Amino acid sequence: MVKVITYGTYDMLHRGHINLLTRAKALGDYLIVGVTSDDYDKSRGKINNQQSLMERIAAIKETGIADEIIVEEYEGQKIDDIRRHDVNIFTVGSDWIGKFDYLQDYCEVVYLPRTEGVSSSEVRAEKRKIKIGIVGSAAYRSKFIKESKYVNGVEIVGVCAAHHENDRKDDGLQYISHYDELLKNVDAVYVVSRPEKHYADTKKALLAGKHVLCESPIAITKAQCEELFELADSKNLILMDAIKTAYSTAYERLLLMAKGGKIGELISVDSVCTSLRDGLQKEGVDLSRKWNSMNGWGPAAMLPVFQLFGTNYSNKFFYTKYLDKEKNIDAFTKIDFVFPSGVASVKVAKGAKSEGELVITGTKGYIYVPAPWWKTDYFEVRYENPEDNKRYFYQLDGEGIRYEIVAFCKAVESGKNISYVSRNISEAISEVIGDFDLRQGMTEIC
Ligand code: CTP
Repeated sequence: MVKVITYGTYDMLHRGHINLLTRAKALGDYLIVGVTSDDYDKSRGKINNQQSLMERIAAIKETGIADEIIVEEYEGQKIDDIRRHDVNIFTVGSDWIGKFDYLQDYCEVVYLPRTEGVSSSEVRAEKRKIKIGIVGSAAYRSKFIKESKYVNGVEIVGVCAAHHENDRKDDGLQYISHYDELLKNVDAVYVVSRPEKHYADTKKALLAGKHVLCESPIAITKAQCEELFELADSKNLILMDAIKTAYSTAYERLLLMAKGGKIGELISVDSVCTSLRDGLQKEGVDLSRKWNSMNGWGPAAMLPVFQLFGTNYSNKFFYTKYLDKEKNIDAFTKIDFVFPSGVASVKVAKGAKSEGELVITGTKGYIYVPAPWWKTDYFEVRYENPEDNKRYFYQLDGEGIRYEIVAFCKAVESGKNISYVSRNISEAISEVIGDFDLRQGMTEIC
């Protein structure tokens, strides 16, 4: 029996794929089709798949051409598969000519003619684009615009910002001075205005029937945040919290490991986020235009705490050093949370510097994420006996922002909120920010 194997993503299965599979089958008696996993595709920079692995497998199954379907999960798996399945012929389309010659040491390699005029990328591009408008001018904006270029099916229509005269012009985008005007021409908005404006900017967009991706915190009180989610629900709109860290594969995996008992029972989470890049202490800086440390770093720093311990803390304490108390600009804030089953400490600073690491303490070991943990592609699970330690690496492109945009677009298209930051966490973050602003439970460092 001649066994043939071929690999691909097969997103939005099209006639090019079917022709290839038919020709591959004709080369032998038994066809194995390797379908790339979502993670593996992500690691190769293919982030735009419209269909999940399961959907892509189901579509191939339905063609009835494949005798066996396997999942391709890692670099170098092809050699393992060829050996394991006793494969005689490896084949792919002619767009790969030469790339797999190295497999000739293991089996015959055949490049089949590719069907002209069709590809998954083209099928995806034919779908209607989601038009996004941007409101606000915080520093994340440029990154968002840059990252949106990697995502199929989105178009940034324009920017509405109060200070556009002095604003970054490098974005190359159309400036629209009236928010109402911007809202008329978009399906969704990305809110990146100052935190105290998020509520009004988001509410206006939702009332106009637009979906919203909002930089965290969505609002600066819990009540406002709840109101916005209720409004979004009542109008069947998506409201998503834009914390990019939530979309990092390594971060997702370490949460699963922590929750899955890899380090025993969870006792403590210690997360630190600091940066001096904003130059808050420089002479002549207009502090009224800056985000304070709590708003700038608080949401990201609190994310693992709430995702691991839940949001029902019994107590919390702030320790804050102000740069300008009147303007509510903190140079440094530490929050201690007490939960029924553990404790957490969060340190954020834009006027102080520390090691930006995340440590999750368990009864059997700990998870260590080196700085800057909020852009993590690597972490370690460590135990008493260093021989048991394990290291994990997952590719992270664009700090997670492009995956966040993909998730937002999928949510808008499907009408299902697939945000990686759940509503109760967004609300808990807004509540902490609100209590900080009211200086509840605060000890000031002089
Ligand atoms: N293929 C083909 N003819 C096409 C498109 C794809 O023969 N018009 C083949 C590829 O050569 C490969 C297999 O189908 O052997 C799976 O390709 P895949 O990368 O999943 O599909 P593309 O349409 O090329 O996807 P994309 O546009 O995302 O690169």
